[in-house]
Amino acid sequence: MAETAMLAIGTIAARTGLAVSAVRYYEEERLVFPVRAASGHRHFRRSDIRRLSFVRIAQQLGFSIADIREQLRGLPEERTPTKRDWEKISTGFRRILDERITAMEVLRDKLDGCIGCGCLSLDKCRLYNPDDAAHAKGSGPRYLMGDRPET
Ligand code: FES
Repeated sequence: MAETAMLAIGTIAARTGLAVSAVRYYEEERLVFPVRAASGHRHFRRSDIRRLSFVRIAQQLGFSIADIREQLRGLPEERTPTKRDWEKISTGFRRILDERITAMEVLRDKLDGCIGCGCLSLDKCRLYNPDDAAHAKGSGPRYLMGDRPET
């Protein structure tokens, strides 16, 4: 679909729910590539709304600017990304999201039990981490990191 109308920074900020300063920052961080009009004003493709929306949500999910830039590196800078372009980056990103979802599920499911962190502060710790046996597997909350109690 050919893009005709270019959008001003205020318009794209309003539609994405981002501050104008945030849009400028994402440009500085090479996450979006507006064109400059003769007046010097930034003009954005309508498809940049999708790109900036991806950036906004990925940041809300805790991805760093460097992570997001790495994911968006597969998209063309000088034209509207196609569905195929987005499919290419979504494959890699889907794997990362699945890993995070699994980690969050483990945290959700184990948060009220012993997480093998060494605090020995719960009654369950005596059963699942006697004398901090989990520490033998390494530092950190071992039962949130994939290890299982020796029971
Ligand atoms: S919760 Fe910290 S050792 Fe059990």
